[in-house]
Order: sequence, then C-alpha cells, then structure tokens
Amino acid sequence: MLGIFDSGVGGLTVARAIRTLAPRADLFYLGDTAHAPYGNRSADELERLTLAILRRLRAERCDVIVSACNSVSAAVLRPMFDLFDSGGGRIVEMVGPSADGLRAQGVRDVAVLATAATCRTGMYAQACAELGMRAAEIAVPALAGAVEAGDERAIGAAAEEAVARVPAGVSNVLFGCTHFPLVRERFVRAARAQRRDLVFIDPAPFVAQEAIRRAGTLGRGRTRVACTKPTPTFARLAHELLGVTEDEIEVMRLE
Ligand code: DGL
Repeated sequence: MLGIFDSGVGGLTVARAIRTLAPRADLFYLGDTAHAPYGNRSADELERLTLAILRRLRAERCDVIVSACNSVSAAVLRPMFDLFDSGGGRIVEMVGPSADGLRAQGVRDVAVLATAATCRTGMYAQACAELGMRAAEIAVPALAGAVEAGDERAIGAAAEEAVARVPAGVSNVLFGCTHFPLVRERFVRAARAQRRDLVFIDPAPFVAQEAIRRAGTLGRGRTRVACTKPTPTFARLAHELLGVTEDEIEVMRLE
C-alpha cells in the first residue's frame, strides 16, 4: 500500500495525481488535521509529528510513503533522510522531485511560494541551484491555515500579496506548498490584475511519478482516507479529489 500524508487537505492534490497515474494502486491518505497548519511550526515539532505519522502509516502496512507536505520534506526529511528512510527508497519527499520536474521543463528562474517552515530551510534554493536553476523562495505564512479554515477573504488577500512579491522578470511560479494548488484560481485572478506573465506550476505530477516509480502501479485500486480531526473542508475535498464520502473517512489519533 502507498501511504501519503500532509498536515491536512493539501496532500490530496498529490494523492489525486497518483490516482490518475495509477488507477489500480492501493492508496492510504492521512491528513493530520488536528495539528494543521504545519507551516508555522518549529522543526522540532515537525519532527515529532512526522515520526508519529510514519509510525502510523507503517502500522497500516504502507511500504512506500509520500510526504505530500513540503514543510516536513524540507525541515525534517531532507536534512535527516538516512534516519527516516533507513530501508532506502521507501520515502518520497516533495523538494527533489519538484526541482527535477522544473529542470525537465526547461525552467531557469522560478519563484517558489511556500510556508515559513519550508522557506526557513532554503531547501528549494539549494536543490534548484544544484540543477543550475535560480529559485526565489517567498513565504506565504497565512495561506495553508486559511485553506483549511475555508476563509475566502484571507485566501484572496494572501494570494494577492504573494503574487505582488514575485520578482520582476521571473514568470514561473512553483506552488511549494501542496495547499496552494487547491486555490489556484485565486492566484490566477490576482495575476490577471497584477502580473499577466505568471505561469503557476503544481508539482503534484512530478512527485506522483516518483512515487509510482518506487511503489509500482499494481493493487486493487483501493482508496482509504483518514484524518486526525474531522473538518468540513477535509470532507469536501476528500470527496472532490478522491471520491471518498464523508462517512468513509476514518478518524485516527497519532501516538
Ligand atoms: N501542505 C503542507 C506543505 O506543503 C503544509 C502546509 C501547512 O500545514 O502549513 O507545506
């Protein structure tokens, strides 16, 4: 079984991309809604939550696990890969596959919109530089929480502010937080008013490809979805993106 996790609804974008590429794979999605958002938490807190989630997903017999959370990928997994992935190749994170995907598309300069936890690490700038690209990391701290809460005003304001901060001359914009593609329209609207040259890139297909490469595509096409606290946004998006109904969502605690 392929496990996928995030702080809440953002990673559903990656789960959907995996489902599209591998209709027969067995997927288990866990959103830690009780502790969302992750993006303003310290690296120590993220490490503790990551350990609890990995333990839980392994107990559910997930043999390959995708961190569909950039904050965890950048602040916890990339700095300590050997510790978390002692088996080798059993964990897929966001930053490496996203940078590879950008490179494959011929991108040279990119603005990466992400959480404060991700930007603090400089991991995107580093991974892009290793591939000969330049990345400007822009923290958009309030947005993931606003998406979880369904706060439309805050979403619009954060998207407008983020677009205004994209450096002149840079037109490729990577969603470096998996919550952001869920409100792509708000970015497009902000760009229409301010910066018509911007192209928004959702890295979910890049990461999905890497997940499938590691886990394969075989299974019975089962989809299990769990969260640590039921919320209306989680129920709505689990249905929209993975076709799972509210009463099918499992609620579990992290130990
Ligand atoms: N979706 C996650 C990320 O990609 C976490 C966002 C958050 O919970 O703040 O960083």
